[in-house]
Amino acid sequence: MLDLINVDYSTQIPNNVGLAEDRQVLRGLERWHPGYLDWWKDMGPEGFQESLVYLRTAVSVDPKGWAKFDYVRMPEYRWGVLLAPQEEGRKVNFGQHIGEPAWQEVPGEYRAMLRRLIVIQGDTEPASVEQQRHLGKTAPSLYDMRNLFQVNVEEGRHLWAMVYLLHKYFGRDGREEAEELLRRRSGDADHPRMLGAFNEATPDWLSFFMFTFFTDRDGKMQLESLAQSGFDPLSRTCRFMLTEEAHHMFVGETGVGRVIERTCKAMKEAGIEDPNDLTKIRALGVIDLPTVQKKLNTHYPLTLDLFGSEISTNAANFYNAGLKGRFEETKIDDDHRLTESTYPVLKLVNGEIRNVDEPALTALNMRLRDDYTNDCAKGVERWNKIIAKEGVNFRLELPHVAFNRQIGEFRDVHATPSGVLLSDGDWAKARDSYLPSSSDGEFIESLMQPQTEPGKYAGWIAPPRIGIDSKSGEFEYVKIHE
Ligand SMILES: [Fe+2]
Ligand SMILES: [Fe+2]
Repeated sequence: MLDLINVDYSTQIPNNVGLAEDRQVLRGLERWHPGYLDWWKDMGPEGFQESLVYLRTAVSVDPKGWAKFDYVRMPEYRWGVLLAPQEEGRKVNFGQHIGEPAWQEVPGEYRAMLRRLIVIQGDTEPASVEQQRHLGKTAPSLYDMRNLFQVNVEEGRHLWAMVYLLHKYFGRDGREEAEELLRRRSGDADHPRMLGAFNEATPDWLSFFMFTFFTDRDGKMQLESLAQSGFDPLSRTCRFMLTEEAHHMFVGETGVGRVIERTCKAMKEAGIEDPNDLTKIRALGVIDLPTVQKKLNTHYPLTLDLFGSEISTNAANFYNAGLKGRFEETKIDDDHRLTESTYPVLKLVNGEIRNVDEPALTALNMRLRDDYTNDCAKGVERWNKIIAKEGVNFRLELPHVAFNRQIGEFRDVHATPSGVLLSDGDWAKARDSYLPSSSDGEFIESLMQPQTEPGKYAGWIAPPRIGIDSKSGEFEYVKIHE
């Protein structure tokens, strides 16, 4: 009897999908593996491939104890294929096939659509590793460096998760797509990654924290809606990925939180009350809150773009087919077909931003984006609590959805962060007060000095409240030269 909870480490590729008995897929993945390792060595964390990193590895998909921690050299990390356990009698829960048994094989008519969904998701995983590969060298502490590498190896595992589906269910086309996933490169002029935000640079640690807060949260929303899929193997894959994703967002939220905390404390100690007194605040070696807001203004719109056009027939088709659901689909009280209902969509109507009711099916991207925004807003409020607790008079805000967009309704207009439309000329004048200017970037870069002594933290960030795996902040999370 196959043990589908605990992970089989007897094959080269740890898994709970019975790879040892699935010779053809196992051989395919073993052939893909060396190319993956080459990619990791070329495009993974630069300069730390030989270091011992205190990492968690999944050993089970049981939510009560799925990971173990130990020192690992990253290229020796056991990237595995893990699916959440199959739910007995699971059904297709939405769209035109609602009520039919969930599919264990790819329905022929949806093969191309499903492959596309899996490839798009798969492409984001290695992309973020590529975007973050230079950050190890400027880590503000060993604790933060470990968190970065943990996120990186797990994004690598997420690539494995999607590649397994491609190899197992899509034959030769799937194997070709899996090769392509190793060939594209973030930001490459000729072979870029598929989605815009995954071709942007992550130049510094504040960007990294914003990325893991905002962009990994897009990942969460996408995985949540794919976890609803009527194609059961995809659903099970995404459900397990979500367990890992939670840590990535934790890294982002606490990272920004610790930056804010350090800034507020330093202001207080120096007796500075005005959060806009940049010269004095920056002289303390901390990142002023208006610049934190500008970074937020960069990352949030970029991530909104990942949701695609507000009105999308692709999204409607994915839903109708039962392939990609809504956030918390099974908890929503409606007919789960959406053929009759509408959803309010923010649009540009005669030069004004207005809510317009659209057919709910074509407005699914908008709905998922709204769910995402609500999730973000809660995190931003938790940051505001830190600021308020320190007694500083400043609030961080999510900019309006019309602000600084490249995709969708507002891609051709300029707007302020509060959603007032601007002419091109006014935008050009105001841009640097909304988004990081080159001098803001230079200032942040000047702070990015590595701190590699155990228990020490760079001056611009507070230590964490608790360590990883019940270890203290002083623990040697990375042994750099071992
Ligand atoms: Fe991921
Ligand atoms: Fe992630």
